[in-house]
Amino acid sequence: GDDGVKVTVIGTGWVGLTTAAVFAFLGNDVIGYDVNEKLIEELRAGRVPFFEPHLEELTREGLANRRLSFTTDIGAALSTAEIIFLAVGTPPAPDGRGVEMSFVSRAATVIGENLRPGKLRVVVNKSTVPVGSNGWVDSFIRQGLAQQGDAGPVDFVVASNPEFLREGSAIADTLYPDRVVIGATDARAIEALTRLYHPILTQDFTPPSFLPRPAGRGKVPLVVVDPVTAELIKYAANAFLATKISFINEIANLCDFVGANVKDVARGIGLDHRIGEAFLNAGIGWGGSCFPKDVIALIREAEAYGYEAKLLKAAYEVNAAQRFVVIRKLQEVLKTVRGKTIGILGLAFKPNTDDLRGAPALDIIRKLGELGAIVRAYDPVAMHRCRAEVPDLPASYANDIYNLATGADALVLVTEWEEFTQANWADIARLMRTPVVIDGRNALNKKYLEGLGFVYRGVGV
Ligand code: UDX
Repeated sequence: GDDGVKVTVIGTGWVGLTTAAVFAFLGNDVIGYDVNEKLIEELRAGRVPFFEPHLEELTREGLANRRLSFTTDIGAALSTAEIIFLAVGTPPAPDGRGVEMSFVSRAATVIGENLRPGKLRVVVNKSTVPVGSNGWVDSFIRQGLAQQGDAGPVDFVVASNPEFLREGSAIADTLYPDRVVIGATDARAIEALTRLYHPILTQDFTPPSFLPRPAGRGKVPLVVVDPVTAELIKYAANAFLATKISFINEIANLCDFVGANVKDVARGIGLDHRIGEAFLNAGIGWGGSCFPKDVIALIREAEAYGYEAKLLKAAYEVNAAQRFVVIRKLQEVLKTVRGKTIGILGLAFKPNTDDLRGAPALDIIRKLGELGAIVRAYDPVAMHRCRAEVPDLPASYANDIYNLATGADALVLVTEWEEFTQANWADIARLMRTPVVIDGRNALNKKYLEGLGFVYRGVGV
């Protein structure tokens, strides 16, 4: 390459591949490394085995112009690298308490075992790791280095660079972020990362044809802090957003009691710029791989110091209960759900993904199963994954929303896919045994549906 930075990304899952493909797109030379040979083979062939809009296009473009390559050879992956991103998984630990850190520790050790003397390497932690992990990664790299015996002096520093990507808009979130956070104290690490992020910070690049720059997008603020602070920023951001949603859900529950409309309340408070309108959509609450895990991790972190994070605990509890409001509403309308056919619209934890981690649909379906309902489900993309990952789910699957509606006693909207909001609800009303819809995302038009003869129940509307 010319003036591009030599970047290696360890772990080519969702975060790692997005990082690799975007930095290649911005003119850097990027190597993606993974232990999973099958995954690397797929990526080399330009196939992305998970659902993220535009990621495959960007990967193929990188392969075609040779900015992006993939390997399972760690030596080759590290030999030229100036910046090494650690983007391996940090799933919830099997005991449900805390985070599984073995992928991070193994990757850090392997990096140490394979770094050779030469120019400075900045090892950047992108995985969401417990506060303080920066020093921990540093010590694992040192252990790896010690394994090499006397390899000569290896110059490296560890930095933190949390990501704030959302599933379904990961590329846009990377190219057009609200801010970039660098957690480092070493001036050379800060310099190297600032150089790498320069096009993003200045927005000085030609946007991809499929993702034009949002109107009014100016320079991107850079937040440079120490590593522990950077790690906490990541957790605090997710915990705040999760709390904001739990807050509006609590208000929505109150709206149901007093007869107010939570959508109007959200708009009325959200226009106060100190509050902001985003993330005030009430409904059945948050799922996904990040919010539940990160809120729990922060609660545990506090516990380790003998501090009870009361607000976060409450946010978590409100959310855990919130997914079952749709069942209460079903019972209000149908009385008993036993023997009734309930159609579940959506399985994924949010639209535009097939991710089922923390998905409210799964809890709702299990509960309905326990209550003796006959549960059918439909999701535009997540059914295949659901069959494979949750084979014991007490539900059968429909081919489309109309098939799901046929003969159903009620429909429950769990994921606000456009396919559902744009469906022909007049047809749906005719197909159902009784036209009842419980809208767990407040995504449908209440007045319109009531006009079609539906019994409609939203959450706080
Ligand atoms: C989140 C963060 O947004 C992102 O910055 C971080 O890097 C990873 O975690 P993600 O989990 O992909 O991203 O989804 P997001 O769009 O944030 O939604 C999270 C959950 O909150 C979903 O279940 C969604 O349905 C729910 N949600 C979101 C609401 O219930 N109401 C809202 O107003 C917004």
